Amino acid sequence: MYEEWAESYASLMDSEIEQAVYARVLGNLAAATAGINGPVVDTSCGSGHMLAMYSDRFDANRQLIGIDISPAMIKIAHRRFGTKASFVVGDMGNVGAALSSLGGSTPPPPALSAAAVISFFSIHHLDAERVLPVLRSWHDVLAPGGRLLIAAWEGTGTIDYGDSNQITAYRYSREEITSWASLAGFTVTRCTVEAVEGMGMDAVYLEGSR
Ligand SMILES: C[S@@+](CC[C@H](N)C(=O)[O-])C[C@H]1O[C@@H](n2cnc3c(N)ncnc32)[C@H](O)[C@@H]1O
Repeated sequence: MYEEWAESYASLMDSEIEQAVYARVLGNLAAATAGINGPVVDTSCGSGHMLAMYSDRFDANRQLIGIDISPAMIKIAHRRFGTKASFVVGDMGNVGAALSSLGGSTPPPPALSAAAVISFFSIHHLDAERVLPVLRSWHDVLAPGGRLLIAAWEGTGTIDYGDSNQITAYRYSREEITSWASLAGFTVTRCTVEAVEGMGMDAVYLEGSR
């Protein structure tokens, strides 16, 4: 689906990114990661808008790594950043392998210790059984004290992508997401639920630390 939508999704994000919540949570993240070495890793970076805002407004010297399962998204992100960030096609459930593959050496280096792992509006692509193992894998790649930032569609049931899209995606409640993050080993430091303009759904914004 994202292979077809990548260019239009990126155009949409040019305006969506200006919603105040993004600057707020990314600013919080920059403050929380000050003093922690390592990259910020976006585990489903799409067109790279979140990493771009993070770097441009809050933390210009931080190494940035973006992972996405869609080669078309990765191509757009790469075009945006040039050599200023690293991007790799990979699965959010296998971030360690994606990070190792960036080393380009044989044997690959151990998974990097990241200062932060971020995930914006992507865990709805995981069914419920997969979320906890994926969060555990993110915990594994973080440095001690490293931060987690998740934005996700809040609620219950599935998300309607229209009849023409053969896709099932899931809304999860604040309680489910908070519980999974805690079970994965994170300390949840803040979790809010807020309306998303024009979407008819709320979003949960969870901040945590390893
Ligand atoms: C709604 S978009 C969000 C993109 C970006 N995080 C943002 O907020 O602009 C969802 C993204 O998740 C990616 N995605 C879906 N399943 C994935 C997976 N298993 N691993 C990595 N990325 C995935 C899609 O390719 C798409 O870029």
